[in-house]
Amino acid sequence: MAETSPKPVDDLTEAQALQELTTLADEIAAHDIRYHQQDAPTISDAEYDALKRRNSELETRFPHLVRENSPSQRVGAARAEQFAPVEHGVPMLSLDNAFSDEDAAEFDARVRRFLRLGEEPVAYTVEPKIDGLSASLRYEKGVLVQGATRGDGRVGEDVTENLRTLSEIPKRLGGSGWPDVIEVRGEVYLGHDEFTAMNAAAEIAGQRTYANPRNAAAGSLRQIDPRITAARPLRFFAYAWGLLSGPFAQTQWDALQALKAWGFKTTPQSRRVEGLGGLLEAYSAMETERPKLAFDIDGVVYKVDRLDWQQRLGFVSRAPRWGVARKFPAEQARTVLEAIDVQVGRTGAITPVARLKPVTVGGVVVVNATLHNADEIARLDIRIGDTVILQRAGDVIPQIVSVVTDETRGPEHYAFPTHCPCPLHTEIMRETTASGAETVVRRCSGEFACPFQKLAHLRHFVSRRAFDIEGLGEKQLTLFTERGWIATPADIFRLKDKRGELLETDRFGETSVGNLLDNIEARRTIPLDRFIYGLGIRHIGETTATVMARGYGTAREFLSAMDKVADRDPSAIDELDALDQIGEAVIEAAAAYFAEDHNRRLVQDLYDQLTVQDAEQPKQDTAVAGKTVVFTGALEKLTRDEAKAQAERLGAKVSGSVSKKTDLVVAGPGAGSKLKTAAELGIQVLTEDEWLALVGA
Ligand code: IVH
Repeated sequence: MAETSPKPVDDLTEAQALQELTTLADEIAAHDIRYHQQDAPTISDAEYDALKRRNSELETRFPHLVRENSPSQRVGAARAEQFAPVEHGVPMLSLDNAFSDEDAAEFDARVRRFLRLGEEPVAYTVEPKIDGLSASLRYEKGVLVQGATRGDGRVGEDVTENLRTLSEIPKRLGGSGWPDVIEVRGEVYLGHDEFTAMNAAAEIAGQRTYANPRNAAAGSLRQIDPRITAARPLRFFAYAWGLLSGPFAQTQWDALQALKAWGFKTTPQSRRVEGLGGLLEAYSAMETERPKLAFDIDGVVYKVDRLDWQQRLGFVSRAPRWGVARKFPAEQARTVLEAIDVQVGRTGAITPVARLKPVTVGGVVVVNATLHNADEIARLDIRIGDTVILQRAGDVIPQIVSVVTDETRGPEHYAFPTHCPCPLHTEIMRETTASGAETVVRRCSGEFACPFQKLAHLRHFVSRRAFDIEGLGEKQLTLFTERGWIATPADIFRLKDKRGELLETDRFGETSVGNLLDNIEARRTIPLDRFIYGLGIRHIGETTATVMARGYGTAREFLSAMDKVADRDPSAIDELDALDQIGEAVIEAAAAYFAEDHNRRLVQDLYDQLTVQDAEQPKQDTAVAGKTVVFTGALEKLTRDEAKAQAERLGAKVSGSVSKKTDLVVAGPGAGSKLKTAAELGIQVLTEDEWLALVGA
C-alpha cells in the first residue's frame, strides 16, 4: 500500500475523488485476488480494511461517484461477504410455541413448579408477536454503535448503516438510566399500508414485489446500499435486550416503559396480567384486536414479568423457560361442499377437488379446496351436501379440516371413481411401492394414451415457467390433440407444416395463426433449464431443473447422463446425487423416466427440433470457481446442504467422492477414507474454517 497519508476526504475535489476511487477499485481488486485466489496476501487485514474504509468514505461524500463495480457494491457471493459478521454479546434465541389453552396452562404450571410457587399467581406480560425480523442494536454510552440481524442466533450480519436509516431507531438514547452498554432487541417490520404502497410502486417501476410484509421488511433491510433501505418505510418495535453492563429494570413491564422513555416505540397492545386466567383473557383480546391492527402479528408472547424470576428460570437449549409464543390458529370458515371433482395430473395422479359454496377466509374468497386423496375423503367421511370447516394458513391452498356433524349430513357416502373421467375411461389403480405396499395415490393407468394426461403434459410444457408459448392454451391444445395434429411436445414445433389445416378451422384467422406460429418459433431456442423443466418429469420442478442445468451445462451432457442414470450407472448416479438439493426422489424419477423407451424417443424427437442454450454458469471470479470440491466428515458451522449450495453459488462443483479430478477436500471431524484418498492423491485438504476464509464467509 502506498505510504502516503491521504488528504482528508472533505478537502478533495470531485475530480480528485474520482481519480482516487478508480485507483482504489483496482488496488482492492488486486488484493482480493492475492488473498482469495492465490492465498498470498501482500498486506495485513488492517491495511486492507483501511483501503475499504477510505473507499466508503469517498463514496459517502460523493454518492454519485459510486460505480457499479465499486468494492462496496460487490454483490457477494456468500451472504456474509455482503455484511460483516457480528457476534452477539448474548445469543438471540427463539421462543417455544404454544397453540392452545392447554399449552398455556402447561406453561404457567411449569413456571410455578420450577419456582416452587404453589398457588400464588404469577405476573406476566402479554405482548403481540410482531411478524417481522428481529434485530439487535448495540448502544455504548447511549450512542448507537452497531446494528445486526439475528443470523444464526450467535452471529448475525452487520447492517448498522441500514438500521440507522430507520426513523424509529434512536441514534442516541434519550431520557436517563440506560446502562453504559446495552443491546436493545426488537422487530423490524412494515405496516400494511406501507407494504401495499411499496409493492404498488415496485410494480409500476417493474421491480420485484414481495409476497407479504415480513418478506418485504427482510428484503428491505438486507440491502447492500443503505440508501435503498432508507427509501423503504421500515419501522421498529423494541421488546427485549441482550448484553447489559448493568441492570436497568426489575420487571419486563418496567423494562418496556424504560425502552419507551429512551425513545423506542413499544407495542401499545402489550399488557401486564396475573395468572393463567390473565394469559387466556389477554390472548382472546389480542385475537379480537388483530384485524384492526395496522401491522401483521402471528400470535402473542407470554413472558414472566419479574426479571429475577426470568434469571432463575433460564433457558433450555435454544429457548427460554420464562417465555412462550402463543400462535394464532390458521383462519377457518364454514361452508357447504357442493361437489367433488377429480382432476388428472400429468403423471396420472387423481386428485379430488372440493367445489364449495363461495366463502371468505382470511380476506380471500375460496371456491375450491384440495381433498388430497381418496383416503382423506374416507377419513373425514365427507359427503356431498355436508357443511364443512375450511382452513387457510398463510399462502397455502385451502384445506377441509372437518365435517360439521350436527348439521344435516349429505345423503350418501362418497364413492371414489373407479375409472378415469377421460374418454378412454381407463381403470384407476391404487399405486403400490417397490415392495408392494399400497400408497394413498391413485393413478389413471392410461399413461400417455390417456388424453387427460397427455393434455396435462402439454399444458405444463407450454406453461409460463416452461416453454412459455403464448396463444397455445388449454382450448387450442384440446382441439389440436383431438384433430391429431399434436401428441407430443415435438409436434408443437411441426405445427408450421399444418398452416393450411389451421387456417381451415373456422376458429383461427390469418393473424392469429401467424402469431401462434411466430410464438412457437420464438421458443425453438430455449435455455437448458426450461428444456429440462418442460419435460415435466416427476419431482423435477423449476429449482431442480436449474440445478441440473447448471450441473451438466449442456443438453448433450444432460441427455447422455440421463441415459446412464436410467441404466443405473453408479458414477452417473453419484454425479447426479452430488448436485445441490438432489436426492433419492429425483434420481429415482429421472431413472424411471429415461428408462422408458417412449420417453427417450419423445425427448430426442423434441431435442432435434430445438436449439438448447447452455446453462448460465455461476460466478467465475471467485477463489473456488471451476474447482471440484468434496466435503467430508462433520461440518460445524454449515450444514452439508448449505456448504454445497455455497460452493455451487461460487462456481465450484461439489462431488461426493474423491478422485484425481478433485481440487479441494474440506474435512471436518470424523472424516475417514476420503481424507486418506486425498492424502494419497496429494489433494489439498482444508478445515471448515479455512474453507470459510477462502470463500470469504
Ligand atoms: S421476545 C428469547 N417478544 O419472535 C427470545 N419476541 O420466536 C426473546 N417476536 O425471534 C424474544 N414479537 O423475532 C419477543 N414481543 C416479542 C416479539 C418477539 C415478535 C419474534 C422475535 C423472536 C421470535 C421468537
